[in-house]
Amino acid sequence: MQSELRKRLIEAFTDAGGEFLSGQHLAEIAGCSRTAVWKHIEELRKEGFVFEAVKRKGYKILQTPEKVSADEISLGLKTAFLGRTIHYEESVSSTQKIAHRLVTDGVSDGTVVVAEEQTSGKGRMDRQWHSPKYSGVWMSVILKPNLPPPRAPQLTLVAAVAVVQAIEELTGLMPQIKWPNDILVGGKKVTGILTELQADSDRIKAVIIGIGINVNQQYEDFPEELLHTASSLAIESGKPISRASLIQSVLSRLEKLYITYLQNGFHPIKLLWESYAISIGKNIIARTLTGEIKGKALGITEDGVLMIEQEDGAVRQVYSADILL
Ligand code: BTN
Repeated sequence: MQSELRKRLIEAFTDAGGEFLSGQHLAEIAGCSRTAVWKHIEELRKEGFVFEAVKRKGYKILQTPEKVSADEISLGLKTAFLGRTIHYEESVSSTQKIAHRLVTDGVSDGTVVVAEEQTSGKGRMDRQWHSPKYSGVWMSVILKPNLPPPRAPQLTLVAAVAVVQAIEELTGLMPQIKWPNDILVGGKKVTGILTELQADSDRIKAVIIGIGINVNQQYEDFPEELLHTASSLAIESGKPISRASLIQSVLSRLEKLYITYLQNGFHPIKLLWESYAISIGKNIIARTLTGEIKGKALGITEDGVLMIEQEDGAVRQVYSADILL
């Protein structure tokens, strides 16, 4: 009886799409008193739901504890091969690690690893990637293109365009890309992409594209040191986002763009990527492992490499760096 009532409350919040619902309205929907509504909201909080309560406005749902099961992702997935095999894990050290192992075991092209939590999420340049439970998309996509290894970095940019389009579709936000693959909303990072390779000397065996999207975290979920630079889609859009729908959208857009890339080359992807790029035409500092390069970001080459024009007119090509705007 009680759980049926809570189910009705949850349905009402889902239909409200992130808007406030008054206690009176909730009481009418659930068929109970306003005091009972309050008690059930407290119960839901204990289960992991996060609500904002404001006097005279009522309650607004900020975060649901939904688990993203492989079945839920498969159910609405409109792809031909990407995500047709999903490895779902509750808690892993890193989905990249699992994906590497699966490649060695011989999994099929398009296999995806999704985890609710990563205890040792890997970022670029040997950094850690903060991956708390139930609040983000932590996944690794395994692709097996018949390409030479130097072309692998282009696939990172293919993935960045796919994630930007999926975020636009689901949230209405307008994300931008900071070279090579940071996705920002309101100047703060909401997504990071890490591409790793298994390759012979002349052929790629598999590309593992690790995608980390901060989805439903609230301010208090971020460690102090990330608060000024990172954000989540829920914070930026003011509403919770379905992680399963976001995964489905990323996979279907990635599949389309990947097929375009294989059939028509990098140029169409480059044009799309540049239309979302934040740093092009601006004076930037590229912090590489060997030092800093200052100058104007001219654009990317047909290989996805960043070109920076220094004050003396010399143009430098940057393969790996952190960009400061
Ligand atoms: C970056 O530093 O910007 C890249 C972050 C990539 C994080 C993702 S989360 C899923 C996958 N598994 C990992 O351990 N890292 C990537």
